[in-house]
Amino acid sequence: DAFFDASASMKGLKVMITAGPTYEKIDPVRFIGNYSSGKMGYAIADEAARRGAEVTVVSGPVSVVPSEPGVRVIKVESAREMMEAAEHEFAGADVAVMAAAVADYAPVEPALSKIKREGGEPPVIRLVKNPDIAAALGERKRPGQTLVGFALETDHEMDNAADKMKRKHLDMIVLNSLRDKGAGFGTDTNLVTILSADGRTTRYDLKSKREVACDILDQICAMR
Ligand code: CTP
Ligand code: CA
Repeated sequence: DAFFDASASMKGLKVMITAGPTYEKIDPVRFIGNYSSGKMGYAIADEAARRGAEVTVVSGPVSVVPSEPGVRVIKVESAREMMEAAEHEFAGADVAVMAAAVADYAPVEPALSKIKREGGEPPVIRLVKNPDIAAALGERKRPGQTLVGFALETDHEMDNAADKMKRKHLDMIVLNSLRDKGAGFGTDTNLVTILSADGRTTRYDLKSKREVACDILDQICAMR
């Protein structure tokens, strides 16, 4: 149709996005997870594909699917599986966006058979720290690669987000603000502030996740 699209083309760019939650096995039928819907990550994937990028989503268990044709999805379950796939995909990527809500801890060793209700004391589940996928990619980032992370903070949000960006060697971090009820997990809207490594900060209004995806990609394209 006759409408002018001002957004920069991403033709020729390879974009990798992590999305959704991770599931960490407790036993064959149970896991530790979180409420991430994957909607934000998939919205970025769709918008990048619409702009002509070659897009791969490394996705935890979600019910959303890409709406743009050509978006490749690699389904994983645990943080360790996500790490393996993300490291592999990052090698050939120009842009990586870490939108997944990765579990920080996993059970030390999942029980091999279903934990039963009867018998003795209730079980204690011991946890170990999961690998930090964003930080691992930040360590091996090459010149020309753009690495973007997310942060969800309850207090000192700007300072914490800036620290995270630095610590993980990110070029940009999207602070998901809890300033408004309509933002965050499971919703169709997000309220974000984008901080970039060069010190710039941009605050956005409450928008649909699709519009937020546009803002994030506009910023990425502007910094490359
Ligand atoms: N992230 C990741 N791997 C992890 C944890 C986080 O790749 N094991 C990424 C997220 O996808 C996000 C960014 O790092 O882009 C920040 O995630 P967040 O959970 O806010 O940071 P953490 O370093 O886990 O710090 P916190 O203690 O606040 O949870
Ligand atoms: Ca975390």
